[in-house]
Amino acid sequence: MLVDVHTHVYLPRYASWLRSRSIAPRILVNEAGEERLLILENETSAGRPVGPSYWDRNAKLNFMDQHGIDISVVSFANPWLDFLSPPDAESLARDLNTDLEEYCATSPCLPSSSLNRLYGLGLLPLVPGISISSLLQAVSQIAKAPHLRGLIMGTKGLGKGIDDDALDPVWKAIEEKGLVVFLHPHYGVDSSAWGDKENGHVLPLALGFPFETTTAITRFILSGAFDRFPSSRILLAHSGGTLPQLSSRLASCIDHDPIVASRLKHDARFYLGKLWFDAVAYGPEELAFVSEIVSRAGRYESGNSNTKALADRKEGSKRMLFGTDHPFFPPLSSSEKWKSVVENLEAIDSVAGWGEDEREGVRAGNALTFFDIQ
Ligand code: URA
Ligand code: ZN
Repeated sequence: MLVDVHTHVYLPRYASWLRSRSIAPRILVNEAGEERLLILENETSAGRPVGPSYWDRNAKLNFMDQHGIDISVVSFANPWLDFLSPPDAESLARDLNTDLEEYCATSPCLPSSSLNRLYGLGLLPLVPGISISSLLQAVSQIAKAPHLRGLIMGTKGLGKGIDDDALDPVWKAIEEKGLVVFLHPHYGVDSSAWGDKENGHVLPLALGFPFETTTAITRFILSGAFDRFPSSRILLAHSGGTLPQLSSRLASCIDHDPIVASRLKHDARFYLGKLWFDAVAYGPEELAFVSEIVSRAGRYESGNSNTKALADRKEGSKRMLFGTDHPFFPPLSSSEKWKSVVENLEAIDSVAGWGEDEREGVRAGNALTFFDIQ
């Protein structure tokens, strides 16, 4: 079985909104009469091709069939509602969450099963100036929707990031309802870091996106939010960006900083062990590394450095879940299967130390448990 936990949609209502805009984010029609998507900072006016794979449910189901994906947990794509005024964000969030529940609820079931093929992650009207009560209403709307299992969240919060103390009531409500938060990037990092050579979208997507996620979740950890909301269930996009690679350095920097050292209840690596990671890393070594480091995370505190790499990888794999990032990264030439998907599946198959149980878990079993799909 195969479950895709990182797969996006621009529902028709959202695509219409993007079409109605004259500045980015927007969908425009170019001189050749083709629709183009313009969402990333500094994206040239040529934009990216955009079409039914972004909004048509049959296109999503065809993609799933083509790649042997049984179930998808579909989330809205960036930049969500970030660019809207509070009243627009509030009403569009309400309508889109309703649309997504309907999109999932009316999807076909798996053959000889009562499971749907589509489940969803809703969104909150997280924009500067929105009231906390509006956010709490959205949380409760999502929690009541039978096919929505959580929400996708960008890194901006109310304008001050996801470590903003003003969001505490929201994190509390999310935790109480047991909703998953899928933390996903959009803004990257300051584009002056990319220099002036034409490198397309490579630097913002390959480096900026993961580093944005890393910064956001690290700030969340440093704010002590995991100590206040210890049952939070946060899934990090793109295998956690660079957090796994930098976690011991982070712990060391905290140890040497009196302002932060006394604020946290645990060693920084402890919090890494409370997170979940998609397996959208494109290589077996990266998956091996994340699974190993994540499983060790909670043990640094007990002084137990007596680790066994392969056993750690098996344990840590339970926190990793297959994803595709569809409809992004389509093949440059039309081919049977998408390379981005095939590479991630091959990576799962070839992690040294993972047996069939771990591979099956990352492909499907972990997601079924994590999203309570049964
Ligand atoms: N590009 C995006 O804009 N979003 C994604 O999720 C992936 C690639
Ligand atoms: Zn994505």
